[in-house]
Amino acid sequence: MEIKVFSSYKELSSACAKVIIDQVRNFPRSVLGLATGSSPLGLYQELIRDHDVNHTSYKEVKTFNLDEYVGLDKNHPQSYYTFMMENLFNHIDIDLSNVHIPNGCAFDLEQECANYNQLLEKYHIDIQVLGIGANGHIGFNEPGTPFDSTMHLVKLDEKTRRDNARFFSSIAEVPEYAITMGIKNILSAKKILLIATGKNKSEAIFHLVKGTPTPEWPATALQYHDDVVLFLDEEAASLLK
Ligand code: F6R
Repeated sequence: MEIKVFSSYKELSSACAKVIIDQVRNFPRSVLGLATGSSPLGLYQELIRDHDVNHTSYKEVKTFNLDEYVGLDKNHPQSYYTFMMENLFNHIDIDLSNVHIPNGCAFDLEQECANYNQLLEKYHIDIQVLGIGANGHIGFNEPGTPFDSTMHLVKLDEKTRRDNARFFSSIAEVPEYAITMGIKNILSAKKILLIATGKNKSEAIFHLVKGTPTPEWPATALQYHDDVVLFLDEEAASLLK
C-alpha cells in the first residue's frame, strides 16, 4: 500500500487526478470505477479542468459507480446519478451510454444487482476511486460485510445516515437502504485510489493501514490488494505516526 500525505486538498486532488489522466491518455478505452461524496470532488474538478485545458478525452472511457441510494429517483437532487452528472459527466465529453450507475429505483433490486455484477465481470475496472466512511466503510459496505461480497442491497448504518444527513434537509429523508458493489468487486479493480481527508477519517485510516483485516473495518480488506494508493491530508493521516 502506498501512502501519500498532502498539506492541501488541492495538491491531493491534482496528484490523484494525474494518475487517472495518465491512464486515460495512455489507454483511451479505460474502465474507471467512481465514487460520490465530498472526498473526490476536488479530483473531479481537476479532471474537468484538464479536459478543458488539455482536451483529455473520455469518449471511449467506461465508468461504473460504486453505489446508489434505494428509492431516490435518478433525478432527485441527492441521487448519486445527479451527483455524477453535476460534478463530472456534464462537464466532460463522456458518452452517457458508457456510464453505469446502479439503479436504486429498479423494481427488482436483486436482478439489478445481478445485472450490474455481470457487467463488472465483463468490463474489468482499471482504476477504482474510493472514499472511506468514518466507520471504515468502502462503497456502502458497512461493518460486518463479508470480504467476498458482490453487488448487494444494504441497510445503511445509522452512523452513515447521520454523516450523510448534511446533504438532506433532515436525517429522516436519508434513505435507509442502498445498493453497492461488494468488497470482492472493489478488490477486482486493477488499481485502487482511496481519498480521505479530515480528522474524522483518521481512525478508519489507522485501521486500514495498521489494523488486522476484519469485516468490522471493511476497508482493511484493501490490505489484500497489491496496488492501493492512499491520498490523505495530514488530519486523516494523523494517527499513522
Ligand atoms: C460514495 C461511497 C462512500 C463514500 C464515503 C465517504 O460513493 O461509496 O463510501 O466514499 O461515505 O464519503 P465522503 O467523501 O462524503 O466523506
